[in-house]
This record gives sequence, structure tokens and C-alpha cells, in this order.
Amino acid sequence: QLHLRKCYSLLRCNLSVWDSDEPVPRAELLKGVADAHGLLCLLSDKIDAEVLNAAGPNLKVISTLSVGFDHLAIDEIKKRGIRVGYTPDVLTDATAELTVALLLATARRLPEGVEEVKNGGWSTWKPLWLCGYGLSGSTVGVIGLGRIGLAIARRLKPFGVKRLLYTGRQPKPQAQEVDGEYVPLDTLVRESDFVVVSCSLAPDTQSLCDKTFFSKMKKTSIFINTSRGAVVNQEDLFEALSSGQIAAAGLDVTTPEPLPTSHPLLTLKNCVVLPHIGSATYSTRGVMSALTANNLLAGLTGSEMPSELKL
Ligand code: NDP
Ligand code: DGY
Repeated sequence: QLHLRKCYSLLRCNLSVWDSDEPVPRAELLKGVADAHGLLCLLSDKIDAEVLNAAGPNLKVISTLSVGFDHLAIDEIKKRGIRVGYTPDVLTDATAELTVALLLATARRLPEGVEEVKNGGWSTWKPLWLCGYGLSGSTVGVIGLGRIGLAIARRLKPFGVKRLLYTGRQPKPQAQEVDGEYVPLDTLVRESDFVVVSCSLAPDTQSLCDKTFFSKMKKTSIFINTSRGAVVNQEDLFEALSSGQIAAAGLDVTTPEPLPTSHPLLTLKNCVVLPHIGSATYSTRGVMSALTANNLLAGLTGSEMPSELKL
């Protein structure tokens, strides 16, 4: 039992905590959530009808330590009148920064270079050895110019990007700041030297990047995904990378997570895979955690949440 003080209210809560960095096993979650009024979860916890039924009618708030909410069965949650808290904005800078790092690492072949230094492959300076692609004078296409997409564009422009294309459900006034051109997806894919995916995962973005998509990209283009793994058809991406249809890919997100060490994508030199670390700075995770706790408390006391998802 714990006393939590927030603003003027003293809240007495019974806390059931999965005290580990590892995900809570499903059976433990189903058992632990019974009769709870609030649930704090991670993006690795699938909150579906089974969990909601296990929780029962007391549940009035779910607070997730993430901005993405594709792990939550929103229709079921809405039907039950449950409020949802999430963590937009506070992770935007960290995620945009990681996306730029991944793009540069992929385009300039940094992991390959590091490996060559370690394994003795570095014989001498050679004119074409480990050449990659630069941003200067390039066309960058951002799929989903939301909070993170715009922050990525802001960071990429000073590298000398010539054209910044973007696509989404509607044009964005804030795109002016980065001279963004709103174009159909087809144009973006065909004309971009760097395709950066930063949209949310929803039914219309599931498997958006498939065989047809990759077949339209230039052979010299780089594909970067820091949104969700399911936006990409990974078999089609493997085919595009191994056949030379596209130059390289950098992924911070995969399906499944973790990606099995035997996965074909991991055999490719032109595919850089990171373990979903977009928001992983100490300070960002600290702020995300505090926001997630405060969203939960606000939901429990029926007050205004610092960041409530509009359902
Ligand atoms: P936002 O809601 O601000 O942005 C999402 C964007 O996706 C919107 O601009 C939206 O466009 C766009 N979008 C939705 N549907 C489509 C579509 N069919 N085609 C193109 N664009 C589409 O969210 P954030 O920027 O804060 O976060 C985006 C995502 O990034 C999260 O949902 C999460 O999955 C992922 N993420 C990953 C992290 C990591 O660690 N790798 C860290 C943080 C987030 P429109 O506005 O036109 O509807
Ligand atoms: C999110 O918040 O959705 C990320 O994937 C992790 O920070």
C-alpha cells in the first residue's frame, strides 16, 4: 500500500507492480489487473479485450509509457469509457535525433566500417571503398509529418537537403518551416533519395511499405523506419535489399521485437537494425515515466490529464 501525493489530493492506492525491466508475462498481467482502477503499461503489453475483461468494470484509466498506442485496442477501450494517457512531445527530440543518427549510419555505412576496422578488412585508403550516400543536395521524403516527422525534417534541412517532400492524410501548415512539399505517396517514393517513415501504425499504414512501394524507389535510395515494424513488409524489404532494388535500410523497429538473431535481414550488410531505442536517453525516459505516472493519477482522481489521448 502506498500514499501518493499530487497537487492537493492525497490518494491511497494499492499498487501491484511488476518490478522488472523485462515485460510482464501475459498470465501475470491477466491476474494482476483484476479489479484494478488504473493500469500503467508499456508498448510491449498488448491491452486487448481479454485484458480489459480480466480487469473488470472498475478500470477507468490506462496510462502507457509511449506516444504510440497501436498496442491498445482503442475501440474496446472507448466502448468501456476508459480514459487513456500517453507521452507525446516529451520524446520527440530524442526520437528525431536517433532517426538522424540511424540515417547517417546507414547512408555512410558506419557499422560496416567499424566492423572492417575490427576484423582487419582495413588494408589501406581506397578510392571507392565503403562509399555511401550524402544528404547534401538530396531529396528527403518524410512519411507522416507529425511531431516527430517535423522534428526530423528540421534536423535534416541544415545538412543541405534540396527538397523536402512529405505525405500524410492532409497538408500541414507547419511544413512551411522546412519548405516541405505535400505530395502523393507515389511521388514521394519515386523522387526521394531518403525515405523516412515516421507515421503512426494504423490499419491504413499497416504494410504500407511493401513490394510495390520498394519497386518504385530509386536503386540508390535509403529507407529509414523509426515508427513501427508493422508498417513494413519485411519479406519484401529483404528482397528489395538483397536484389539491389534499393541501396540500404535502417530500422529502429521490427516485427517481431526482438528480431530473432537468425532473421534474414540481419545477414545483410546494407541493413542496419537497432533495438527500438528512439526515445532511449536517460532524461527522456525520466520525463516519460513522470508523465505516465501523472496521467495515471489524474485518471484515477478524475481530473485533467497532462496528456490525454482523444478517443
Ligand atoms: P503524430 O501523431 O504527431 O504523427 C503521426 C503522423 O502519422 C501524423 O502526421 C499523421 O499524418 C501520420 N499518418 C497517419 N496515417 C498516415 C498515412 N496513412 N500516411 C502517412 N502518414 C500518416 O505522432 P508522433 O510524431 O509523436 O509519433 C509517430 C510515431 O512514431 C508513433 O506513433 C510511434 O509509433 C513512433 N515512435 C517511435 C519511437 C521509437 O522509439 N522508434 C519513439 C516515439 C514514437 P496526419 O497528421 O496527416 O494524419
Ligand atoms: C513510443 O513512445 O511509441 C516509442 O516507440 C517508444 O518511446
